[in-house]
This record gives sequence, C-alpha cells and structure tokens, in this order.
Amino acid sequence: MLMRLLLVGWPSMEDPVIGGWLWGRGWVWMTAGIQPAKNSLTERGGKKRTIEGEQGHRESEREREREEDRPTDFIMQGIRPPILNGPMHPRPLVALLDGRDCTVEMPILKDVATVAFCDAQSTQEIHEKVLNEAVGALLYHTITLSRDDLDKFKGLRVIVRIGSGFDNVDIKAAAELGIAVCNVPASSVEETADTSLCLILNLYRRVTWMHQALREGTRAASVEQIREVAGGAARIRGETLGIIGLGRVGQAVALRAKAFGFGVIFYDPYLPDGVERSLGLQRMATLQDLLIHSDCVSLHCSLNEHNHHLINDFTIKQMRQGAFLVNTSRGGLVDEKALAQALKEGRIRGAALDVHETEPFSFSTGPLKDAPNLICTPHTSWYSEQASVEAREEAAREVRRAITGRIPDSLKNCVNKEYLMAASQWPSMEAAAVHPELNGAAAYRFPPGLISVAGAGVGVEGLVQGSLAHGIAPVSHPPHAPSPGQPTKAEADNRENPSDQ
Ligand SMILES: NC(=O)c1ccc[n+]([C@@H]2O[C@H](COP(=O)([O-])OP(=O)(O)OC[C@H]3O[C@@H](n4cnc5c(N)ncnc54)[C@H](O)[C@@H]3O)[C@@H](O)[C@H]2O)c1
Repeated sequence: MLMRLLLVGWPSMEDPVIGGWLWGRGWVWMTAGIQPAKNSLTERGGKKRTIEGEQGHRESEREREREEDRPTDFIMQGIRPPILNGPMHPRPLVALLDGRDCTVEMPILKDVATVAFCDAQSTQEIHEKVLNEAVGALLYHTITLSRDDLDKFKGLRVIVRIGSGFDNVDIKAAAELGIAVCNVPASSVEETADTSLCLILNLYRRVTWMHQALREGTRAASVEQIREVAGGAARIRGETLGIIGLGRVGQAVALRAKAFGFGVIFYDPYLPDGVERSLGLQRMATLQDLLIHSDCVSLHCSLNEHNHHLINDFTIKQMRQGAFLVNTSRGGLVDEKALAQALKEGRIRGAALDVHETEPFSFSTGPLKDAPNLICTPHTSWYSEQASVEAREEAAREVRRAITGRIPDSLKNCVNKEYLMAASQWPSMEAAAVHPELNGAAAYRFPPGLISVAGAGVGVEGLVQGSLAHGIAPVSHPPHAPSPGQPTKAEADNRENPSDQ
C-alpha cells in the first residue's frame, strides 16, 4: 500500500502541529494535539492537578462530578451515548469523509475534537479507525451514506452535510441508529439562484451557443448571418416561468425572474396558503397545471423518495410544445432518457442542467450524450469562494454544537429531528403535560408551514428549549411530495411508519 507523508500545515505558535499520514485514498490524521485544548475538561482538570496539587485535584473532581450531573441526552438514551469530551476521554474524532482540505474547519474544532480527513468516495475507502471511533462526520455531496454505510460507523452521533441537499444520506436510517443529520441550507442560496437565472437567460438569449459558434469560426457579418447564428433567441418579457419547489432557492429565483419580465408561477404543495400573495406570484394547484402553463420550467424542489423522475416521459408530454427546462436542484428529478428523446424531437426546445442522474457528468456517456440544445455544468451552481467558506464554517460550528451541547436540541439545522424523536420513542412528555402558563414559549405556535419554509430545525433553537422542545409536536420541513402516480406523503407515511405523522 502506498504510504505518503502529507504535511498539511506549518508548525506555528497557535497551531503547533497539523499534519499526518495518508494511506492511499485512506485517511489522514490532522490534529492540533500538541497544543492543550483551551476549553476542554482534559486541560482544565489536568492543569489543576499539576499546578495546584491536591486542592486542584479535588476541585477538578468536583468539576467532573458537576459535568456528570448535567442533563443526560434524553433523545439518544438507549440508542447511543452522548458525546463524551471529559477527563476520561480523548478528544472525539471528527472526520471529513469526501474531501481533504480541513483548514477552515480546524480552527473551529481544534479545541474540542481531533479532525481527520478521508478523501473517500465510498465507505469502503474509509479507514477502520474512523469507522470505529468518529463521533462526527462532515461531508459534501460526493459520497453516499445508505443504511448499510451508516451501520459501519460504530460511534457516529452527528453527520453534517456541507451544503443544503442531504439526499445522499439516509436520514431515517441515521435516526434509527441515533445519528443526527444536519445541513447548511443558507450559504449558497444566492449563488444557486443566480446560476439558475444565468442558465434560463442562456436558453432564451442563446449566449452559450453563439459563443460556441464564434469559437468554431462562424462568421456573423451580415444581418442574414446574424439571424442564422442567433436563431432561436427569444424575448423574455411576457414569458411564464414555472418554478417547482418554492423554498429558499425557488423564491430567490422567482424574485430575480420577475425583474427580467417573467410572469412567475409555482407549484409547491407543502407551502401554506398565502405565500403566493406575500411574494406576488401565482400558485398552481397541481404539477400538471404548472407544466401546462409554463414556457420555461425550473426545478427547485428537494429530491426525496417520492419525486424521483418527477420530469419523465409522461410529465414532459404535459409541458408546452417547445418549452425550456432548467434543473439546478438534483439530477434524480429528471429522467434523462425521456429528456434526451424530447430534445431530439424538439418537444423541449432547450434544457440546461447543473445536476445529473450520474455525477460527475460526462458528455461522452449516458442518454444525453447526443442530445441537442443542451447546456450542462458540473454541479457547481452552489459555488463561490465566499459560499464555500461560509458553508464549511457553519458545518464545523454545527459539529461543535453537537460536541459541546445536546443532540439534537443544540443543533441549528437538524434535518432528521422528527425521525430521531420517533426512533427514540420519546417518553411521555406530551404537550398536555406542559402547561402554557408555566412557560410563555409553550403558548407560541409556529404558523403552519413556517418551519417548513425555513427547513427542519430552523427556528427551534432558542425558542423552544429543553424538555419543552419535545412537548411540541415536531414540525419540520416535509420531505415528500407526490409525483404523478405516486402515493401522497400521508399515504406513504402511514404505510412506512404509522407513528410518524
Ligand atoms: N446545484 C447546486 O449546486 C445546488 C445548490 C444548492 C441547492 N441545490 C438543491 O436545490 C434544491 C432546493 O434547495 P433549497 O435550499 O431551496 O431547498 P428548500 O428545502 O428550501 O426548498 C425545497 C422546496 O421544495 C418543495 N418540494 C419538495 N418536494 C416537492 C415536490 N415534489 N414538488 C414541489 N415542491 C416540492 C419543498 O416544499 C420546499 O419548499 C435542493 O434539492 C438542493 O439540494 C443545488
């Protein structure tokens, strides 16, 4: 096995040692271990023992006892123990699974955790030490964690997706194993919306193809030649943009599209009545209505087990003849075979895809390889330097909250809280048992759907704390939406998990 020494940081006063070993595509130890952890119990206890002698020892013992008295992690009781970060325990291991650069995460985590990176594309490539010992995992979208994959992690308590989509993690299986899954939903909303608009504008104004034509030596001197090269370029004002999924990105796209003169309609069965009025948009009651009325359809719904191939041969036939299709959401939402056929037949005039059924995407393979009028980008809508750093910082802070606080109460964007509660068979701390008079917050009700717009967990922290959090019926972002011929969320939930309402 190839063994290489990888120095990933320079010794300095603040970061004495950050470095480690790389085993092929295995994992690399990255630790600031020589420097004592400033806030950890290890340091507090240890220091007192050496500097202040017996008195210090007794104090640190009392401190440890006080730590042990803190509220136990009820949700995880009986599933996995809380993350221990005290005198008897080495610092918990946190691993970046599908990347190798931890320079943003390290400063945020180094006093509470040891950080490793795996640079893996599957769990088969993850070192045993990480599988056995990691309590926290950070990941992008380039590794998938199915139930079987999750089973391999023996001590995992929290997974944080560095980004918004979490369809690459089986969040229900994770909950059943006592693992909280979080995402970072906010960092690239603007980038993704801007890219979506960029793609929509490209389809209408044909910039990509004109550029390509010039590169290939096409002359555009005479009006006739201009007509030829710009053929198909269309006016935007008065066109109807149909948005499927009016969450964070969908709303940002709607606002931008209006400024370009689009009439904007949307379909999102999970939003409460009135959103259309707040935003000045027209709401469609069914997917079919949206498809029939749109000149350009843009996908912004999350991918889940109920909307795979939402755009398929059947739904494409419901679209207007010659409509455009844009997808910056998830590749699994579009049946690429059906799309390729529709592009070849001209039923769809042009399509722009940032996400694909198989990634990394290649023009030389798959059903789209000879499809005309197609623009593809390599799942980069989310990217800007600022968004990338923000997402990584926020993901590291979420792991930190998991280590230093309570799971899931201390987490800001836990997306499987509902399932965690169900899996832990939360004891009888029902709403009825918590009198509103005893705590003002108990009287507060989130307007239906408010949390679903923001995403699971958002708004809970700070408003509903401790046991009260469990007294309120879990309201979280609805993960499902029916596709034609597929069961509704209620039907599916009843079938799959009778207690999960
Ligand atoms: N390409 C990229 O780089 C990139 C970047 C960011 C986000 N994304 C993806 O974009 C999508 C939207 O992100 P977001 O942050 O706006 O998510 P979000 O959770 O805020 O919004 C998703 C919306 O889709 C709705 N929805 C779910 N299923 C639906 C269905 N079948 N029909 C209609 N509506 C449905 C939900 O009710 C919700 O309002 C996600 O899939 C995310 O993974 C991609």
